[in-house]
Amino acid sequence: MTDEDVLPIVQCGDPVLRRPAEPVDPADLRTAELQRLIAQMRATMEAAPGVGLAAPQVGVPLQLAVLQDGPERWGKVNADELAARERYELPFTVLVNPTVTPVDGNGLAGFYEGCLSVPGLAALVARHRAVRVEALDEHGEPVDRVFSGWPARIVQHEADHLGGRLYLDRAEARSLSTADNYVKFWAGHPPADAADALGFTLR
Ligand code: NI
Repeated sequence: MTDEDVLPIVQCGDPVLRRPAEPVDPADLRTAELQRLIAQMRATMEAAPGVGLAAPQVGVPLQLAVLQDGPERWGKVNADELAARERYELPFTVLVNPTVTPVDGNGLAGFYEGCLSVPGLAALVARHRAVRVEALDEHGEPVDRVFSGWPARIVQHEADHLGGRLYLDRAEARSLSTADNYVKFWAGHPPADAADALGFTLR
């Protein structure tokens, strides 16, 4: 990876983040152009750093997202928080043209999240605890996989980007915090504490 592989991240207010992305033609996954885009998205996600990045966030209106999570991204998140969030290592994954459906019986989990396209803010979002993903991988091979816990949250966040949605569309409005105040008040605390103090209902 070289520095030039890192692309600028499109910020909210740009209409590319608000339009549904176009499906990728699977034949295009064999082109150097698409493979280069995937490498650039991976480098951009790592540099940010982030746990997911969707193509519209680098200005490309295609249904393509990259995901990765692991200890190198956990920073000061303690073991209790990791466990509460069901946050475990997610190897580098590419999802092309994903369809995401909730897995019945797993309910919702409400946690704070943020977005590289909405810098400096965090808000609580209720997400399905488990989702089934049908997609293609970077080689055009079919993916049919269940994600749960934090990886399920990442998948839902990125799939939202591909549909022209931002996490703020689904967030508890009264939970909205600056990133600094998230660290100051809510990091390391159960989400119920934020719900009580800020006045929203935890779903
Ligand atoms: Ni995002």
